[in-house]
Amino acid sequence: MSGVTIVSGNPRLEAAFVELFGRSGPVRRIWSNQWRDPVEVAMDACAADPELVVTGADVGLEMAELVVPEIDRLFPSVTVLCLMPRLDVATSLLLLRLGARDVLFEGGTRDEFRDAVQPVLDLARSRHQRRDRSVGVVRRRVITVVSPKGGSGKTTVAVNLAVGLARRAPKQVLLVDLDVQFGDCAAALGLRPEYSLVEAVDAVNNDRSALKVFLAGHPSGLGVLAPPEDLVAADDIVQDQIKRTMAAFAEEFPFLVVDTAGGVDRFALAAMEQSTDLLIISTTDVPSIRAVRRQLNVLDEVGFTTQRRTFVLNRANAKVGLSVAEIEAAVGLQATFQIPSTRLIPVSTNEGIPVIERRDGGSLARRFDLIAEYFFPTPDADDRRQRRRGARRRGRR
Ligand SMILES: Nc1ncnc2c1ncn2[C@@H]1O[C@H](COP(=O)(O)OP(=O)(O)OP(=O)(O)O)[C@@H](O)[C@H]1O
Ligand SMILES: [Mg+2]
Repeated sequence: MSGVTIVSGNPRLEAAFVELFGRSGPVRRIWSNQWRDPVEVAMDACAADPELVVTGADVGLEMAELVVPEIDRLFPSVTVLCLMPRLDVATSLLLLRLGARDVLFEGGTRDEFRDAVQPVLDLARSRHQRRDRSVGVVRRRVITVVSPKGGSGKTTVAVNLAVGLARRAPKQVLLVDLDVQFGDCAAALGLRPEYSLVEAVDAVNNDRSALKVFLAGHPSGLGVLAPPEDLVAADDIVQDQIKRTMAAFAEEFPFLVVDTAGGVDRFALAAMEQSTDLLIISTTDVPSIRAVRRQLNVLDEVGFTTQRRTFVLNRANAKVGLSVAEIEAAVGLQATFQIPSTRLIPVSTNEGIPVIERRDGGSLARRFDLIAEYFFPTPDADDRRQRRRGARRRGRR
């Protein structure tokens, strides 16, 4: 997929693009009143892997200022053109500095508009073609799996998600186990790592070229960075070292999935700061749900508001007297994914074979695969999701 995605509530802008540029590629328009943060807008804008994203004048400067740098950060091969109701030098300079390729007046005659947009579109096309083909349409993501309580299913979700992503993009995904005291991602994958975070932290300070040596390789193509065996060594690692180590690995891997210990320790904080996404896990009991709400409040207070938050409800079928809607209302997030309570999960943890890879994984494996699809939609999956959205909308009417 490629073409132009217009972020605007204005159908006339879409019609103008279809008329002027529709012959050279698909033109889509997206708009929602439900967008919660600029990362989400950026993700929707780039979901179909466009060459050019155009923000309409109705997006407004305040929103454009937030969305443009997110697109630039998360989708570096996508060019952004901002349309404004009027042009002034200060606004243009600001948006250009934030990563827009050009800032143009949305009005004017048809010919003026075409002559102004055409060069930006040509440039966008060649830039898109030049991108690193080995990465395909992979969108760079750092996904940190968090939960205020222990035992809620973080490792289960992190491991299955990481394998699901690695199956889509082998050698492009790293699972970082930041539960430094009791981390068990490697065991859940049947791996016995030789090295750990301690050696990787050292290498970041000394010789970055050897970083990958410290990873354990899983047959799915996933790399795993294990926590240190020696708890005293783990104690010496400071937050800044974690940040630098993660940043170094993020240059090598388009996808980082980070498992954390329960609560918010210094490792989780360092990871969250570098994250594009927080995957928030809770079971259905009231203390867990209250704790998630409190954790989200704390994250708001400390300014972790730009990461997209996705809520996974684990053991969702447990009969606890609360409906999913009540849980969602208490948490303040929609449960994008629900995982039932099933014996298959502890069995696969114990055997070191993630559910997503098991022959008997069935619909549970499919659920985990959907989480991977959510973070790395393949073009086919994009089409499927559009159809599902369409069907849901038709159902609501
Ligand atoms: N949906 C489920 N159904 C049945 N068992 C589950 C489910 N989710 C997790 N478990 C089991 O619960 C235990 C805790 O799960 P997991 O290790 O994924 O949680 P965690 O949040 O990583 O825990 P910790 O905070 O100790 O790291 C494991 O034994 C796992 O197999
Ligand atoms: Mg765990």
